[in-house]
Amino acid sequence: MKNRFSRIIKPKSGHCVMLAIDHGYFGNIPGQLKCFDELHPLFEYADALMLTRGMLRNCVPAQVNVPIVLRVSAGASMLKELSNEEINVTIDDAIRLNVSAITCSIFIGGEYEKQSLMNLSKLVNWGQEYGIPTLAVTAVGREMVRDARYLGMASRMAAEMGATFIKTYYCENFEEVTTICPAPIVIAGGKKIEERDALQMAKNAIDKGAVGVDMGRNIFQSDSPIGMIQAVRAIVHENVSVDEAFEIYKNGPKGL
Ligand code: 5RP
Repeated sequence: MKNRFSRIIKPKSGHCVMLAIDHGYFGNIPGQLKCFDELHPLFEYADALMLTRGMLRNCVPAQVNVPIVLRVSAGASMLKELSNEEINVTIDDAIRLNVSAITCSIFIGGEYEKQSLMNLSKLVNWGQEYGIPTLAVTAVGREMVRDARYLGMASRMAAEMGATFIKTYYCENFEEVTTICPAPIVIAGGKKIEERDALQMAKNAIDKGAVGVDMGRNIFQSDSPIGMIQAVRAIVHENVSVDEAFEIYKNGPKGL
């Protein structure tokens, strides 16, 4: 478990930059994800890739040596009730795919809250049995009020259930989320915002106790995805200022 986890959270900095590319599993396919193959140049800058089984199988060559955080939940689309998902990958297949962690979402306050919490329990139990860390993704869904009280509660619940690490959203007073949650937290990027704002968000999150980011659209929808992931890395791993990180982004190549 520790060995796999240390492939994701780098021991030197204690931090990580994950690239989230699991959007398509519920039907959310932002422009550039249609051409998943084009994202390959980004992989070498990621400490881990978060994706689904089909995308791993079809789009990540076996030679790519980036730890995989495998989403093992499915069953809902954005056209219906997102919380109505179940576990769709067996632990045998996850092990066969040589993943470094497994993940699913929990929907606190959602219609299928209990089902999603039982999904997480299943992953934690598998993880304990086979030494595979579990990432719990909290606060997915349109109606959730993503404030510190809600995100703190959801993250704490996931930690109490045994999740190894938690992915949640950044919010005001984020230190209240990280202090109430005993497990390491990475923040989700969310919808594309201005690059400087996304870098500021990453900086704030690290300053307030997050161990890293699991960012998707704010990297691959940027006009310089490589510049952007390098800038995020500089904040997360080297604690550079937002101004310095913004320069790194600006000097990055346009497109992929
Ligand atoms: C929700 C997820 C998303 O795929 C992830 O949050 C996407 O990353 P971003 O919001 O940075 O584009 O895990 O299920």
